[in-house]
Amino acid sequence: MAAIQPDLVAWRRHLHQHPEPSFAEYETTAFIEETLSGFGGLAIERPAKTGLVATLRGQGPGLVVAIRADIDALPIEEENRLDFRSSRPGVMHACGHDGHTAMLLGAAKVLSARPERLHGEVRFIFQHAEEQLPGGAEELVRAGVMTGVDRVIGAHMEPGLPVGTFALRSGPVTASPDTFRIVVRGLGGHAADPHRAVDPIAVAAEVVSNLQMVVARYTSPQDALVLSVTRFIAGTADNIIPGSAELGGTVRSFDPALRAGVPVWMERIIRGVTEAHGASYEFSYLNGYRSVVNDEAVTGLVRRSLVGCFGADAVVEAVPLMAGEDFSAYQTKAPGCFYQVGCGNQAEGITFPLHHPRFTLDEASLPVGVSAFVACITDWLGEPDRLSALA
Ligand code: NI
Repeated sequence: MAAIQPDLVAWRRHLHQHPEPSFAEYETTAFIEETLSGFGGLAIERPAKTGLVATLRGQGPGLVVAIRADIDALPIEEENRLDFRSSRPGVMHACGHDGHTAMLLGAAKVLSARPERLHGEVRFIFQHAEEQLPGGAEELVRAGVMTGVDRVIGAHMEPGLPVGTFALRSGPVTASPDTFRIVVRGLGGHAADPHRAVDPIAVAAEVVSNLQMVVARYTSPQDALVLSVTRFIAGTADNIIPGSAELGGTVRSFDPALRAGVPVWMERIIRGVTEAHGASYEFSYLNGYRSVVNDEAVTGLVRRSLVGCFGADAVVEAVPLMAGEDFSAYQTKAPGCFYQVGCGNQAEGITFPLHHPRFTLDEASLPVGVSAFVACITDWLGEPDRLSALA
């Protein structure tokens, strides 16, 4: 893959310099379309306003495999001093999606050069809006991009892993990132006469404390669950008890049954605490993306391709993340595997985490990521004699 490295770096830097936020990836989509058109042999479709799908048909029937890259950037002001740093104030590729896009372009270039070697079909999904609910994946799935797909794979850059390594696991790999909003309504008044008021700040503080019981006492220590109140907004002046207080936050879990129970417990606590103190409440709970759950068989196949290409030492067991990912939408239609590509480099100071204003990636990870995609596709859709040799 060394031959493609200059292309990968050029694409990634162009994308990095011109980031666009979720649902507004117009120039990004145009750039991807123009680049793919230059390869030849790809059927390009635009099933949504932004994002696109390119199809490569091999010779004769075979598996249909989808590979997904996300293309959107984040509302973050970049603090890196790179020649190709973001040219757009307040927008940055801080989650490596510039790298994901470059890697998928690279795989499309390599594979489209020799379609006669493949049997079946590869669908390259360049997905918009991973970073913002309701997410672009759901929209693309609704538009039919997964119709007939047998397997779906995707990869995410991980600065905590050294370049040249991968992490994967079967089962849950990302959480469902739900959000909630609570309004505690009391009775406002003079701060000098608290007995004439119903203080929503004191009551909301009790609500925050009691919500900790959900993780601490209602759920098994074996279950992974996060419940964080991240917003507490109330009041206008030091001598006024306000009429209401607003809380907001996030709930993250892997298990759908546990997930379904959390808003029920939360509301019981909120109702009990507010009633006890003569206040009232509003509660809304918004489901985020489903948890990404890797299929055991497909994960085994990906692992075999990665080990075959890079050796057993390059592949480690992943740790499930409490972050969210809408790759899960594709997994409602076909078994899939979402794995991590190491992009960290301690010696060069490439260690900042995803979503950090100084996040960056070691560009040596790009050809590694391309090789991984290409290895999976050639192992799965390659010459039948090669397939039978692997079986
Ligand atoms: Ni991301």
